[in-house]
Amino acid sequence: MTDRKYASSFTFNSGVKLNNRFVMAPMTTKMSFFDGVITKDEISYYHLRSKEAGAIITAAANVSEGGKGWEGELGICDDKHLQGLSELASAIQTNGTKAIVQLYHGGRMTSSSVLRGTKPVAPSAVKAERPTAEEPRELEEKEIYQIIEDFKAGAVRAIQAGFDGIELHGANTYLLQQFFSPHSNRREDQWGGSLEERFRFADLLVDEVIETVNKHTDRPFVIGYRFSPEEYETPGIRFEDTLYLVDKLADKAIDYLHVSLGKYDQLSQNEEYQNQSMLAYLHEKINGRTAFISVGDIRTGQDAEKALENSDLTALGRVLLADPHWVSKVLKDKEETIRYDVTDEEREELFLTNGVWQFMQNMMKDRIK
Ligand SMILES: Cc1cc2nc3c(=O)[nH]c(=O)nc-3n(C[C@H](O)[C@H](O)[C@H](O)COP(=O)(O)O)c2cc1C
Repeated sequence: MTDRKYASSFTFNSGVKLNNRFVMAPMTTKMSFFDGVITKDEISYYHLRSKEAGAIITAAANVSEGGKGWEGELGICDDKHLQGLSELASAIQTNGTKAIVQLYHGGRMTSSSVLRGTKPVAPSAVKAERPTAEEPRELEEKEIYQIIEDFKAGAVRAIQAGFDGIELHGANTYLLQQFFSPHSNRREDQWGGSLEERFRFADLLVDEVIETVNKHTDRPFVIGYRFSPEEYETPGIRFEDTLYLVDKLADKAIDYLHVSLGKYDQLSQNEEYQNQSMLAYLHEKINGRTAFISVGDIRTGQDAEKALENSDLTALGRVLLADPHWVSKVLKDKEETIRYDVTDEEREELFLTNGVWQFMQNMMKDRIK
């Protein structure tokens, strides 16, 4: 139905235009080779899902060798990745779909096994609260600056490979979030301490990435930032910390902020923010300064319209794994034909190889009907 907000086009501050308000959420596929070079199957997986959503955000791609989070991860930390990344960007850019690559460093959320004997690094030597977590090594200051350089080099490779933009992965407990979190960041130098000091890494990183992108391309190029609004650990990121983060970032020359939520209408854990969903509070705080992307268990066109009441664009994850044509079915009012369950027999045609399949099973349990 054309009177629906989700069917309308959208233009980012940079000038990059999307054909509709749907974005494929970044989803790790674990399909790359051991060294981060993309496989043909992974390219086919994305190609099958192009032509539909306005943009596709790729799986997290590691910008530093030491930031690799798991086997089969996409790499953007070396020039050897460029050839495959260009093929990936072209495969996504069918019929005007825009290609955005997610730039990431795992920080303490990796293991010395994935890093082939090297200890994971993090703002402080504090283990994550999960059973298999390893104690990371605290980053030296020069290594912090090197990681910022790695993100910048990743942005340059994204430009060279022909992507339409990058998303800085500041969500889901990885390194960027680890700097902002009082759980993982106990530093007493300029990178830790107060809220303002814990924000310093993201602050500098975003400024430097913007400058690098402006230096390396004249074409419109999207810069986005993803964040998680709350942590469960104590100490941990609380909703008011996130309102501060979002307020600061919205003033920068970025194209969007992208929240990471399990459910788009989720309430905060904080008793002072119960009048509306976190999405609504965040939307108010951003107040049109930059675009805002919602996410979280959107299964129907109606869910998308509700999420778009408090956002400009909405991201779709698991529904696009199960049905690569979910967007066109919704746009053409054929929702009754959407596939929500995938059988073992259907996996091959959907390019859901073992890595993504296992990850998806863990996340799909009792969430998709
Ligand atoms: C298989 C899988 C892999 C994911 N990998 C990433 C990732 O690499 N980066 C990221 O920011 N979020 C990742 N996510 C989270 C999704 O982007 C999204 O926020 C989440 O799935 C909720 O959206 P949904 O309910 O539409 O699936 C992943 C989710 C799934 C299911």
